[in-house]
Amino acid sequence: MPLAVSEITREVDKAFLLIGGVSLFLLLGITVAMVLFVTKFHRSRRKTVEQIKGNTLLEITWIVIPTLIVIWMFFVGYEGFALMRNAPANSMVVRVTGQRWSWSFEYPDRGLTSDKLFVPVDQPVKLLLTAPKGDVIHSFYIPDFRVKEDVLPEQETSMWFQAEREGIYHIFCAEYCGKGHSEMRSELIVLSKEEYREWVNGRLAQRNKPLELPGVLSPDHPMFDKLGADRLYRSYCASCHGEKGDGSGLPDARAFFLTEGWKRGRKLTDIYRTLSEGIKDTQMRGFPQLSRWERFALAHRVQAFFKTPAPKDSAEDVEKLVKEYKLDQQLAPQKSIPIEDAMKALIEETGPGTRESPQEGHGDG
Ligand code: CUA
Repeated sequence: MPLAVSEITREVDKAFLLIGGVSLFLLLGITVAMVLFVTKFHRSRRKTVEQIKGNTLLEITWIVIPTLIVIWMFFVGYEGFALMRNAPANSMVVRVTGQRWSWSFEYPDRGLTSDKLFVPVDQPVKLLLTAPKGDVIHSFYIPDFRVKEDVLPEQETSMWFQAEREGIYHIFCAEYCGKGHSEMRSELIVLSKEEYREWVNGRLAQRNKPLELPGVLSPDHPMFDKLGADRLYRSYCASCHGEKGDGSGLPDARAFFLTEGWKRGRKLTDIYRTLSEGIKDTQMRGFPQLSRWERFALAHRVQAFFKTPAPKDSAEDVEKLVKEYKLDQQLAPQKSIPIEDAMKALIEETGPGTRESPQEGHGDG
């Protein structure tokens, strides 16, 4: 049994051990009694059979005691269940998407995404789980935390946990969801508060770094290594298009080396659009959660599978893409701050002289 790492873990283990213990005790008790009776009342020892007309005291005992035990089991289980179902109000929210066959994580208050779940230690984390339309049922499972929840297409389920110890923990899909089910793994990485802040800031800086055109059109741009283009490919593309880009993951998935049948074309700008929006009426989904840099990194990674080089993007192609996706504009980090902090900032901006008292009609801001 993995070591307990949260309150929920302890509650679940408690219920498991109590119910398991009672069951084991009953199993042993019944087996021993059975063996004793078989020997004691064997027909070689007892020639005649006694008729018993019931024993009220005994019957009440074996009704009342098991009933009490079962009620006790219910409350032990219910305690843990209630704890699991009620995420604390100060939980940090992370959106989890399960799709054939990978997990992705979105941190709405930070405007960030990742393919592993990063959380700070001692912080309740509420996960909102969903799968895209047309996908199948998955199940999000963190064994060390004893939490597991179904992930359904176009529906939202939730669960929460709070890690008490830093470390790396397994994440599995616990619902058989097709060929890549066993590949549908990820990791929960619990960092100290400072490390987590550093991670967020690092990712934000990376994500919001303005594109360097035309440098970004070259696959050799150092930023693509830093982003881990191979890792991105494995996370977002390989399950359907195959590790080697041969389309071996899903029956209708494109083999990238084929030059025919591209719905949008093979240029960098075409692939960028496909990665952003997907392709209508196909299994190819867009990945709006990826940053602009990540999309270019992936487009280059896909082009690396080509046997015949892709047509070059003209200056007009690039210009069109820049306009379409506002690539020349610096993205503001999408950050929502707690309301108290927002109020504090507002008060500091307006200065104490102009502050209105909340009791005078502006209390609902
Ligand atoms: Cu997803 Cu199994």
